[in-house]
Amino acid sequence: MKIAIGNDHSAVDMKKVILEYLESKGYEVADLGTDSHESCDYPLYGEKVGRAVASGEADYGIAICGTGIGIGIAAGKVKGIRVCTCSEPYSARLSRMHNNTNVLTFGARVVGTEMAKMIVDEWLENAYEGGRHERRVTQLMEIEKR
Ligand code: RB5
Repeated sequence: MKIAIGNDHSAVDMKKVILEYLESKGYEVADLGTDSHESCDYPLYGEKVGRAVASGEADYGIAICGTGIGIGIAAGKVKGIRVCTCSEPYSARLSRMHNNTNVLTFGARVVGTEMAKMIVDEWLENAYEGGRHERRVTQLMEIEKR
């Protein structure tokens, strides 16, 4: 499974921790930057992660900024993307099972590295359930067409 990861300046250190963690678990990871602590604009990196997933270049995306919110809004503007911004693992798990989310975001200034790993684990290790959720996810995607 291939995961695209991207971040702004506030999350460079968190990105490195999560990238190494993912690789240690056998995931292939595409690092879309930034690797600089110099102030930059999160929309660029959110869009990069969203496009990598929407194009099929990556199966899933993880995007990190200070809060996870700005970079999540940016990724969610890309057609085909369903984002969850999570500060705890329960929502991450249900976002996969019920909402079939394909991009996870969180805040490097909100959660610590151990909580971030738990969020990532729950998100990646739980599958979409389909069934009654399919109608609702289809409705979500139809909003993009209007
Ligand atoms: C950058 O200072 C900060 O605004 C950004 O990382 C993020 O939290 C935005 O949502």
